[in-house]
Amino acid sequence: MTGREATTGRHVLLAGGTSDIGWATARALRTTGARVTVAGRSATKLEPFGAEGFETMCVDLADARAVDHAFERIGRLDGLIPLVGGWRGGGGIPGQSDDDWAALEVALTAVRHTCRAAWPLLDASPSARVAVVSSTAVAHPLAGGANYAAMKAATETWIHAVAHGFSKSARDASREQTGACTIFRVRALSGLEETVAAHVAALWDADPSGTSADVVTVDTPND
Ligand SMILES: NC(=O)c1ccc[n+]([C@@H]2O[C@H](COP(=O)([O-])OP(=O)(O)OC[C@H]3O[C@@H](n4cnc5c(N)ncnc54)[C@H](OP(=O)(O)O)[C@@H]3O)[C@@H](O)[C@H]2O)c1
Repeated sequence: MTGREATTGRHVLLAGGTSDIGWATARALRTTGARVTVAGRSATKLEPFGAEGFETMCVDLADARAVDHAFERIGRLDGLIPLVGGWRGGGGIPGQSDDDWAALEVALTAVRHTCRAAWPLLDASPSARVAVVSSTAVAHPLAGGANYAAMKAATETWIHAVAHGFSKSARDASREQTGACTIFRVRALSGLEETVAAHVAALWDADPSGTSADVVTVDTPND
């Protein structure tokens, strides 16, 4: 089955999809026939997505009640791609401030909130996919990015747990597994947006299996 056939009619939500990677992913998914909703907290950033024909959802993904409320209005969901990011660091280990940790933690919180709210819909989907963009720093953390790498490691752990949830649901219902999770690790996203977006659009090409997420490192051509 081709990617185009695989995603036709499917609904994918880009949570925090208002940056460049959101644009690239929304457009890549649209070429496969998927219905795309872009969620963000900035109405100004969402407006051009609406103008280009994408559905939009204005919500602060750090606000659990707001996220739950927003997801109540989604009838079907086959893909969740949390994209809230943010980098703070530097200063070696002494420079890993609590302020930086609190700012970084919003991205993990958004992953938790959206996966939790989306779970009933994803679990009911005939082909659910969840993917995040993580960092090569998880495997090779640097002192100046300890907070960041730890937050990304926690995010990866959460996504592995979601993958286990898909596996367990299938096992409990004595049916084939339909959901799968992927972690894309990049060193820097700038210039890789189209490549990562193409990987996301192709997520439905492979049959899901296993109790943990796939981890895929996406390199620039010169890496
Ligand atoms: N950039 C890199 O080099 C790099 C490297 C490795 C991994 N990644 C990962 O790749 C993904 C995308 O990165 P990025 O740099 O494009 O991320 P980003 O710009 O920091 O965040 C993506 C979008 O999320 C929105 N957002 C932030 N907080 C939000 C909230 N509470 N509710 C709703 N929307 C919110 C932001 O808009 P506003 O803040 O204006 O609302 C932004 O447009 C992230 O998961 C990031 O950690 C990036």
